[in-house]
Amino acid sequence: MPIYNLTVNGKSMQVDAEPDTPLLWVLRDELDLVGTKFGCGIGQCGACTVHIDGAATRSCLLQVSSLESAKITTIEGISDDGTHPVQVAWKEHDVPQCGYCQAGQIMTATSFLKNNSTPSESEIRDAMSGNLCRCASYNRIEQAVAAAAK
Ligand code: FES
Repeated sequence: MPIYNLTVNGKSMQVDAEPDTPLLWVLRDELDLVGTKFGCGIGQCGACTVHIDGAATRSCLLQVSSLESAKITTIEGISDDGTHPVQVAWKEHDVPQCGYCQAGQIMTATSFLKNNSTPSESEIRDAMSGNLCRCASYNRIEQAVAAAAK
């Protein structure tokens, strides 16, 4: 199998993978970054969201062969100690229920707030609408995103 040089959470990493391996599985199975979750595998749920060059992107849809020049950030890379403002707001608003979708939610929220630091309620709802939560914790998610923006 070919070897790919990736930049993940600021570190250079080498992986040995088939070219069409989804980034999601490279992260989880090769790099042991298991915070990124598998939900649907077809780009519909948002559980696998990571940042590619700062933009929230579904890692289940990205082939490893396309990522050698990308800066990849996972939930493990957004802060060393859980003190990113979005993580703090998440804890203060007690957002997670089962927790499964939360890494993807936080990755979408952090990317969104980087580009819009004073979002309206409807902008927050729109930005987060592609990340599904089976526990329907949507109100708390929106409240936490609004709090993190302050
Ligand atoms: Fe990638 Fe659902 S697992 S969008």
